[in-house]
Amino acid sequence: MGSFGWNDKLLTGITEIDDDHKTLFTYLRAPEDAINNHNAAEMARGILGGLSDYTKYHFDREEAIFTKYHGYELKAFHFEQHRQFVKQMGSFEEQLNSNADISAEMAAYLSKWLVRHIMTEDKVFFDAYTF
Ligand SMILES: [Fe+2]
Repeated sequence: MGSFGWNDKLLTGITEIDDDHKTLFTYLRAPEDAINNHNAAEMARGILGGLSDYTKYHFDREEAIFTKYHGYELKAFHFEQHRQFVKQMGSFEEQLNSNADISAEMAAYLSKWLVRHIMTEDKVFFDAYTF
């Protein structure tokens, strides 16, 4: 696995959340391979549906946990980050439907967003609350 890979610094310590996050990263391997193999546009189309579905499932799971912790002050902000991601997936889908080759942009966005989001919003929450 290359630059889009998972690393253990991303662990939150909550097994089911970490397993979800690792699964999200498996979607990033396909873009990397496809770009290296010069069939990137097909890749982008191929992973988007599955990734969007899995992301919604995962965000619902996280958000159900946040909702239980009434003192979590960044809840609204965190939810908003999730909504922005879902919106971006929708925008990628539209661009793919109009045959734009956005594979490199998509791969870069996904990798950057996931790492940043897990390292900041997710970890701030999971480090602060004990389960
Ligand atoms: Fe999150």
